Parts: sequence; structure tokens; C-alpha cells
Amino acid sequence: MARERANQAGVADLVEFRVADYRELAGEQFDAIASIGMVEHVGEERIDVYASRLASLLRGGGRLLNHGIAKLKDLDTPDEGPFSERFVFPDGVPLPLSRIELALERAGLVTRHVEGFADDYAETLTHWISRFESRYDDAIRLAGPERARVWRLYLHAARQGFETGWASIYQVLAHLPSRDAATKPAEALRLPTRAPRRPAARPAPRAAAPAG
Ligand SMILES: C[S@@+](CC[C@H](N)C(=O)[O-])C[C@H]1O[C@@H](n2cnc3c(N)ncnc32)[C@H](O)[C@@H]1O
Repeated sequence: MARERANQAGVADLVEFRVADYRELAGEQFDAIASIGMVEHVGEERIDVYASRLASLLRGGGRLLNHGIAKLKDLDTPDEGPFSERFVFPDGVPLPLSRIELALERAGLVTRHVEGFADDYAETLTHWISRFESRYDDAIRLAGPERARVWRLYLHAARQGFETGWASIYQVLAHLPSRDAATKPAEALRLPTRAPRRPAARPAPRAAAPAG
């Protein structure tokens, strides 16, 4: 479908679509990477691998846009619980924004801008809910009553989460400093290494006073 749309838009020769795990990308360099709605599937064990892989794929000066759901409460629980894991969002493990930021910083990325979209996502969910409700009979026909009920519950709970400060969705814009830019200021700030101490000048041997 993506290829068909690119064809229709007349940009088929400018884009390439690959279905791949982010860890399969290696040995390539990009000017910019946009990771949309994926970071919430990475989890605590791999978030540093994820960030360093993205950084390694950027050219010096390259930009990263990392967009995804972050949790704001229940920070020490590692997953979203059995209901979501089993019925809705397998492998959904949103992390706090601070943990994502730490991983980006550890990978050498420098954050320029962070924007939160919790209110916008709550509004999006309101639209999804009203469309879902307006065709609830179709949903039951297509997916069965149990699955339709699960999604009704989930959509309402998700909206409530964004409205009540349980979760948010953040867009982080960061860049990878070019090697020169990264090292020069640090070099400039470093104190000059002390010149090795010269041995104290010995007093010139006095000329022997003429005895007299
Ligand atoms: C919540 S969906 C978001 C999809 C889309 N980007 C959007 O915003 O509508 C999460 C996406 O992350 C992808 N994903 C999860 N783990 C991934 C991985 N290790 N490498 C690449 N993609 C992954 C899934 O295939 C899925 O398409």
C-alpha cells in the first residue's frame, strides 16, 4: 500500500520502503531519522541499545525525531499489565521520558526540543471513540463481541490516561553533534596541561674570591 501511494504521488524513485527490525539497520548513514510510535515497544532492557543504534545510523550533524508514548505514573512497574499485554498492546512497555532522554544522552545525542501532546492525543482518542461507537455493530461483526468490548474499554481507558496525567506522548528532537563540533568546545574548556616544572635555576658558581 505504501509503495502504491508513493507511485500515485509521483515520488516512487525518491523513497524506499523496508519492513525491518531497527536492529537490522547497520552500516548506513542518514541525515535524519523519524521514529514514530515505536519507542514504547523497546523497554528498559533495550532502550540504550535502541538509542545507540539510532545515533550510529546518523551522520555527524544528523537529526533524530523520536516520538512515542511515555508513562508518567507507576514508574517502577516494568510492563502495562496482563490485560493490555494479552488483549491490546503486546510488548507495549512505555518508559518515563527521563529514561528515554537518558538513553539518548548516553548515545551522544543532544536534545533541542521536547513537545508533549497528551491533550492532542486525548482529542484523537475522542474522535476514534466516536467513530468506533458509531459503527459498533460493524466492529462486532468483524471482530466478535469480546474483542469489540476489549477495544471499547481500552479506548476509553487510554483517553482517561492522557487526560489525567497517567501517560503522555512526547516528540523529542535531538541531533548528533559532528565530531569536530563535539570535541572542539570540550578541548577549549580543558585547562592547559601544566608545563613540567623546570628545575630551579642553580645560582651560578661564584668566582672564587681572590685571596688577599
Ligand atoms: C504503535 S505502532 C505505531 C505505528 C505507526 N508508526 C503509527 O504511528 O501509527 C508500533 C510500531 O512499531 C513497530 N515496531 C515494534 N518493534 C519494532 C522493532 N524492534 N523494529 C522496528 N519496528 C518495530 C511495530 O511493527 C509497529 O508498526
